[in-house]
Parts: sequence; structure tokens; C-alpha cells
Amino acid sequence: MARVFLWSLALLASAQVALSSGVFELKIESFTSSRGLCLSQPRSCHIFFRVCLKHSQDVINPEPPCTYGTALTDILDADSNSISESAPIRVPFLFKWPGTFSLIIEAWNAESSGLDSTENQNNLISRMATRRRLGVGEEWSQDVHFGDQSELRYSYHVVCNEHYHGEACSAYCRPRNDTFGHYTCDDGGSRRCLEGWSGEYCTVPICAAGCSKNGFCESPGECVCRQGWQGERCDECARHPGCLHGTCQQPWQCNCKEGWGGLYCDQDLNYCTNHRPCQNDASCTNTGQGSYTCTCRPGFTGKNCEIETNECDSNPCKNGGSCKDLVNDYSCACPQGFYGKNCEVSAMKCADEPCFNGGTCEENVDGGYSCHCPAGFTGSNCEKRNDRCSSNPCANGTNQQFIHFIDFTHGQTIIISRV
Ligand SMILES: *[C@@H]1O[C@H](CO)[C@@H](O)[C@H](O)[C@H]1NC(C)=O
Repeated sequence: MARVFLWSLALLASAQVALSSGVFELKIESFTSSRGLCLSQPRSCHIFFRVCLKHSQDVINPEPPCTYGTALTDILDADSNSISESAPIRVPFLFKWPGTFSLIIEAWNAESSGLDSTENQNNLISRMATRRRLGVGEEWSQDVHFGDQSELRYSYHVVCNEHYHGEACSAYCRPRNDTFGHYTCDDGGSRRCLEGWSGEYCTVPICAAGCSKNGFCESPGECVCRQGWQGERCDECARHPGCLHGTCQQPWQCNCKEGWGGLYCDQDLNYCTNHRPCQNDASCTNTGQGSYTCTCRPGFTGKNCEIETNECDSNPCKNGGSCKDLVNDYSCACPQGFYGKNCEVSAMKCADEPCFNGGTCEENVDGGYSCHCPAGFTGSNCEKRNDRCSSNPCANGTNQQFIHFIDFTHGQTIIISRV
């Protein structure tokens, strides 16, 4: 049965979270008395020990209060003059361990009546008091007290509670790995950040190497870009959405590359060079904002000079000549008897004796011939007689006589009519 003093219970209840920062532990190794331990029953009896821990006093007052705490052992079986080793007695404390203390150990007879044995001073077998200096550590310090016909061997140490560290068990550090911190604790109670975390409480993740100030991270090794930035290191600005041939120095810009224009840099200022729209060796002129004009070479037409002009469309060939379209030109295939580019020249020569009515024929330098008509005749072949009746010289119903002409224009001698 473990016993504790009431005030100690109250203290425990009021401080449920930080139960204590450390514990003073004491083991009774052995206790012998030549006077005999068992006062009432000589053969065997029950004994317990009380440990009282106080601040260091020059003259130790063994009475309560035990300012650092107190505790009792279980009730131990004793034969007539010795008891053997006890389980450790624990005196928890909540303050900074000062390193010095007064220690009072009392051996008591346990009454069978169940009353609190310590109220009857007759039950006190022995009491020792000493002043000690002890630092925090797992190692047990051995000590022996020689009293009046008794010998008490005991050992003790002071250990910090879990998560308390340092010389005085006053440095609290509980390893954690959650929102409120990512760390372990060193022996002195200082936080040691887990890899990838920094900051006083190791709550600040260390971003990926090279992550720029425009990036951040919520867990180690990330590099998440802020609005308007991109790239593995978030050091590249994001262009305006829809920006086609543009760049940026700041987020959302769209600065057009050379030759491009418009809000989204989607308009080709140099359409001619980039698209070569004009065909058939036409020359191209940029007219800005993605537009252009083509100046066609002769013989071509259309926006891109893609259409070849058909020079035959204007029917240039005369006298039944057939037309053939050439590049920016045409040729006429003339029927027999005509020549010239447009078959406009008659093939008749002076040798064909084209001049009628005694006209004289003369070859022209550029092809063809001319007729020089005798008096009284006219027309290109002297085929017309000057009509002297046209002035109606014949009076009183006399007949008029007409001479009609011969048509040479189609290479045939056609007598239209003859009177
Ligand atoms: C910390 O927590 C993270 C996520 O829960 C886990 O991946 C990591 O292994 C933990 N680190 C340690 C040292 O426990």
C-alpha cells in the first residue's frame, strides 16, 4: 500500500498535466539494529520507512513540513533485527531541482490496528538526518548511516520526468511531429528540428533548394508558386492568359516579341516575312496588325497574285484567228491570208493583183499593200467608181447606172451586185 501525505495529493490534483518535473528516488538497501527492530513482537514484525525531503538546512529540523516532498515505503517484513532491500521510494517534485537538500529517513513499526502509525511516537524505531548535494542522473549514489546501534544503507538518485531535461529538470521539451512543431529534444531540452523544418518551434518548412521568394511551401522540399509565377523555382513570371508571341518581366504582362503586335501579341506585324503570302514573285508590303498587300507582276491578279490573267478574254485576235493564253501575253493563230499579232493584216500582196480598175499596187514596208487608184475610182482596191449620178444630174426620167464594188476584206472577191 502506497501512502502519500494529503498536501501532496492536493498538489497532484491541481497539476494534472505537469505532474512533476522530476523525481527523487531512494532505495533502502538494508537496515539492521542490534537493539532489535520488532518492539512488541520479538520474532518478526512489519516496518516501513518515511522519507522527508527538505531544502538544505544548516541545522536540520526533522519535523514537517517536508518542503521538497515526502513518501513512504510499502510495509516491509522484518525479522528481529534486519530488513532487506525495498522498492524505490519516489518523491516527485515540480520545481527546479536545486542540487542540494536535507534528507530525513525514519524507520517505523507498522501497527496492526490500522491507525496511522506515525501518530504514535513509540512506533518510531530510528531517524537519521543528513545534508546532501546531488545532481540529476540515473546513477545511484550509495550512502550508509551509522546510528545508535543501527546501520542504514541506502542509495538514491534524481531523475527528470519524461520530456524534462537539464541540470534542474526545468527544460520541458516533448518531441512532436505535427502542426505545432517537428522536432526531437536534445539532453539539454533544446528542440532539434527534424530534417526539412526550421524556426524556433520547427514549424517552418524548408522549401526546395532554389525556390525563389515568389514560391512557398507547406511541407519540406516543396516549391509552390504564388499567383503570377511559375517554373520549378517559381522564378518565371506567368504571362497574361492568351498571350501568344509575348514575354513578361512581371506577372501577367504580354510584351510582344519583335514583329508581333496587339494586346495578346497575336497580330503579325511582319506578315510578309513570316507567311510569304504573295505568289508568283509578287512583292509584299506589310500594312500592320497582320495585314498585307501584294503587288502582282504583270499577268497575275488576285489578293495573293495567285490568279493568272487570261489575255484572250478581250478577244484580241481578228479575222477568225484563234487565241492562246501565255504568261502575260497571248498569241493568235491566224487563218490563211492574214498575219500580224492580231491577224489584222491581210496576207494579200501586189503579186495577187489586188488593185482593180487599173490601180497601181505598191508593197508596204510593214506588210500589206496600197492601191493607187486612177481618176474616177476609189476604195482600198480601187473597186469603187466615183458615182457621178449621185448628184442626180439626169433630168426628166433618164436612167441612172450604178457600179457596185468588190469586197476584199475576207480574202474573196465577192461581187455583191452588178447592174
Ligand atoms: C513526421 O510526420 C510525417 C508526416 O506525418 C512523416 O512522413 C515523417 O516520417 C515523420 N517524421 C518522423 C521523424 O517521425
